[in-house]
Amino acid sequence: MLFPLLPLLAVLLPESGNAKAVQERTTFQLIQISFYANQSWAQNQGSGWLGELQTHGWDSESGTILFLHTWSRGNFSNEELLDLQLLFRFYFIGLTKEVQNYASQLQFKYPFNVQARAGCELHSGESLKTFLQVAFEGSNFMSLRDTTCVPSPEGGSRAQKVCDLVDQYEGIKETANNLMRNTCPRFLLGLLDAGKMDLQRQVRPEAWLSSSPTLESGRLLLVCHISGFYPKPIWVMWMRGEQEQLGTKEGDILPHADGTWYRRVTLDVATEEASGLSCRVRHSSLGDQDIILYWGHRLSMNWIALALVVPLVLLIALGLWCKKRCSYRNIP
Ligand SMILES: *[C@@H]1O[C@H](CO)[C@@H](O)[C@H](O)[C@H]1NC(C)=O
Ligand SMILES: *[C@@H]1O[C@H](CO)[C@@H](O)[C@H](O)[C@H]1NC(C)=O
Repeated sequence: MLFPLLPLLAVLLPESGNAKAVQERTTFQLIQISFYANQSWAQNQGSGWLGELQTHGWDSESGTILFLHTWSRGNFSNEELLDLQLLFRFYFIGLTKEVQNYASQLQFKYPFNVQARAGCELHSGESLKTFLQVAFEGSNFMSLRDTTCVPSPEGGSRAQKVCDLVDQYEGIKETANNLMRNTCPRFLLGLLDAGKMDLQRQVRPEAWLSSSPTLESGRLLLVCHISGFYPKPIWVMWMRGEQEQLGTKEGDILPHADGTWYRRVTLDVATEEASGLSCRVRHSSLGDQDIILYWGHRLSMNWIALALVVPLVLLIALGLWCKKRCSYRNIP
């Protein structure tokens, strides 16, 4: 796994925006994905992430930062952002050139991928951790600790050679370290403050039930869908009365494009045991008013719908038939 799972982002800045009260750890990082097709063709993708939320993109054609949210500039001035943009532009151009220059010497065979992540992590808004990690073809390759290049064991002698090269560029290492140690936390705190309306919003989930037959006959897979909630932490359980059903299986929490989340939670039951089961959802947006959906009720809702739809369809069919056959000329 290349990138360790990002820490769960639960940004809980109080109204005052007091940095001390950031409850959880929060991360800002830049991610780079570079593809080198051959000696003359390479493609760089860049993006910026606040926890699991993408806040920035990189337009590699024009060499410009894309601000994905109204608050993506944090509290930085245009001037400072333009300086950073220029720095990233030089970085991408310079890096591509260097990699292509050294590729054969280091026995990097085209095509290949390079991925990197760099940023900072704040704990309780105070203590700071920085990181810069590079992967080659999906495996750890090297990292930077303060201003020391550390080859990864998976990188072998090639990583050692790259670190020897990197160590010759004292200025670049210092710039990188300064970006992570000073610029990053300053930007992160500004971002949390500028985006707090968005980051602290509460969006109520929608929930619905469905089922599908399982491979085994006489059994049903009940599915409880919970969609469009924010923030991410959520509790969902299949219940019988007050009894939590231990067979409940939680799916991954998946992102929607609008930044809200989706989860499905399933329970495999014998068909005749399905009625009386319910799906219970707890989420901060609901206060203590849990959503409870009963399996039986949905079924009866379906029957009600069917009872309404069938006569309607018959009426329409009759109408169509009549349009063809009934002679309107005879109507006085
Ligand atoms: C390099 O790769 C690009 C993209 O795959 C391709 O279009 C181009 O023809 C290649 N050039 C050479 C010299 O192989
Ligand atoms: C932005 O906010 C952070 C945190 O409150 C602060 O340290 C910094 O000085 C502010 N301004 C700039 C330009 O970084």
